[in-house]
Amino acid sequence: MTDSVQYDPTAALRCLPDGRIARMEPELLAARDEVLADVDLMASGTIPTEKQPLDAGFIEWPRKLLDEFNAERTGSLIGRIQSAARVLREETDSLIVLGIGGSYLGARAMFEALCDPCHNERTRPGRRSVPRVYFDGNNVDSVRTQSLLSLLGERCDDAAVVDKRWAIVVISKSGGTLETAVAFRVFRQALDEYYGADSDLARRFVIPVTGPPGSRLRALARSRRYERLFSVPDTIGGRFSVLTPVGLLPAAAMGLNPESLLQGAADMTDRFRTQPPGENPVLDYVATCHAFEADQQRTIRVLSTWGARLEAMGMWYDQLLSESLGKHGLGATPVTVVNTRDLHSRGQQHQDGRQDKLITNLFVSSPVSDPMVIERLPDNQDNLNQYAGTTIPELLFAAFQGTNKACAEADPPRPTADILVPGLTEYTLGQLFQMFMLATSLEGRLIGVNPYGQPGVEAYKRNMTALLRRT
Ligand code: PA5
Repeated sequence: MTDSVQYDPTAALRCLPDGRIARMEPELLAARDEVLADVDLMASGTIPTEKQPLDAGFIEWPRKLLDEFNAERTGSLIGRIQSAARVLREETDSLIVLGIGGSYLGARAMFEALCDPCHNERTRPGRRSVPRVYFDGNNVDSVRTQSLLSLLGERCDDAAVVDKRWAIVVISKSGGTLETAVAFRVFRQALDEYYGADSDLARRFVIPVTGPPGSRLRALARSRRYERLFSVPDTIGGRFSVLTPVGLLPAAAMGLNPESLLQGAADMTDRFRTQPPGENPVLDYVATCHAFEADQQRTIRVLSTWGARLEAMGMWYDQLLSESLGKHGLGATPVTVVNTRDLHSRGQQHQDGRQDKLITNLFVSSPVSDPMVIERLPDNQDNLNQYAGTTIPELLFAAFQGTNKACAEADPPRPTADILVPGLTEYTLGQLFQMFMLATSLEGRLIGVNPYGQPGVEAYKRNMTALLRRT
């Protein structure tokens, strides 16, 4: 299990009475049974009113997709995603990914965690022919959108040349979210102008990902006769959809391996289903979080990511937890921090401020194969020769251990737990995505909150559209 994500709550559990987690076992296992029974309930086609909405399709989805791929290869969904991604990689040089919330954050998390941090600045060979990737339609920000359009305008002046071509992947499950729809209109017009409206290239270089019939985006795609369109399964909610075409198509276009992402997720589901408390990262994570919230009112969940590459993963989790459990006056508040950066801003408060936080570290144990080393310099003007020979990851590890120790030695001690990621790969990221999605569903069932649906978000959307109509 060397490439398996591990959860270690040892330090946190010292801040709870002995046996607290063991006493919770019956409720925890009952909640797991309910989460797994939700899968069968969906398959039965009759979902009782009190269970609606029920979007538990994400649980078995990774395994299903892998089985389909093994049976059908190019004809399977993974095969079709790979073929669309090949078109984007081999025939274009910039990719605009439009989407918001669950239709955006997962792809961004993968881009930041797994692609070169300077990816977009590199030459095409330096990017291994992977297009530059830009995200838009995730806000209402005309400065950013205009800037991106003008950048494309400067760079792209000959549609016959691959290096000067760009494409759009537009993602919206409902097909009507205003932020994404407005951005799509703007970029679509620019794309039509560049390749020629209704030209073969204009039809080839727009790929919509959307929900079932009723989606305006689907209707628009049909009328424009786009070559490709991918569906978001009806059984999977927006923020649980990262391993559907919503995240897998951008990921494959970024040169990432969809099968490994799915394998990681499928393996995490197996562990969730079969491993006992104490060895089961999903059960153990939820048990710890819940105990601190219930017993000590630690309602702030700090996800402390170490190194800059997991910040977007944290933002993805922020949305998942907030929209899933923030209902009926309940649900913990997620906060993502990036260390060591935020040790110089939020660290003081986390270690010494209100006792309302549980800190979960997300730490990558083997970050890179060839780490940078601090060199010895003859002048030693900066006095850093004392660290000569130390690698940058060793520095980070010392900061991680030092911070945990400081929390443990604080008065009173501050609880910290660790999610240990053996290395940043598609396989480990797939495990993390699934671990957090299962944990969120499990916690929902444990506290009696339906983790699916987001009535609050829908209300703001309704109000906004109504206000706009009046003006
Ligand atoms: O989790 C959700 O369902 C939401 O966060 C959606 O992902 C978000 O509102 C975007 O919706 P859509 O994909 O329909 O544009």
